[in-house]
Amino acid sequence: MRIVVLVSGTGSNLQAVIDAVTAGELDVEIAAVGADRPGTYGVERSAAAGIDTFVVDFKAYSDRAEWNAALTHAVAAYNPDVVVSSGFMRIVSPGFIEAFEGKYLNTHPALLPAFPGAHGVRDAMAYGVKVTGCTVHWADAGVDTGPIIAQEAVAIEDGDTEESLHERIKLVERRLLVSTLAVLAAEHKTGQLAPRS
Ligand code: GRF
Repeated sequence: MRIVVLVSGTGSNLQAVIDAVTAGELDVEIAAVGADRPGTYGVERSAAAGIDTFVVDFKAYSDRAEWNAALTHAVAAYNPDVVVSSGFMRIVSPGFIEAFEGKYLNTHPALLPAFPGAHGVRDAMAYGVKVTGCTVHWADAGVDTGPIIAQEAVAIEDGDTEESLHERIKLVERRLLVSTLAVLAAEHKTGQLAPRS
């Protein structure tokens, strides 16, 4: 199963995928890692691991439609079975979703449909919930919407900061992303991986 992973930041979830592949625990081919801006540690660590990388810099395009078309083109060049948004902080346009219909996987640091958006951890804390968590789901054209594949709860503890809670969530998120990809890879091997939406 060929995957392209999209990142905007440090890519620690991506690193968990790289580590699992390197250890022979996850049978996927990371065809490429792409970012929406230059200088991300996610791209740097991928290049260091010998993975193809590309940057489609949002700021280099005059509008979102042009950027979206360039991103779609760059990802399609790798002919992925699954595209993983792993801390990719840009909303893609319907054209991208159409091009990778039912193949676009997202991880989110909250229990969707609660607390979608860029600040899922902060918003859960602000609301005062006692339990939050993370979600792996097929992404559609909405913001953190689409069929849920896996979720796991994480308790919010007294004294948590956004950073401490997010770090605990990410420990679970990494495991959930790797185990989800393992299931999808097994389905792909037996020809059962059908795009969903
Ligand atoms: C993850 O929690 C992801 O769900 C969120 O941003 C974080 C990315 O972390 N959107 P990293 O770049 O994988 O370290």
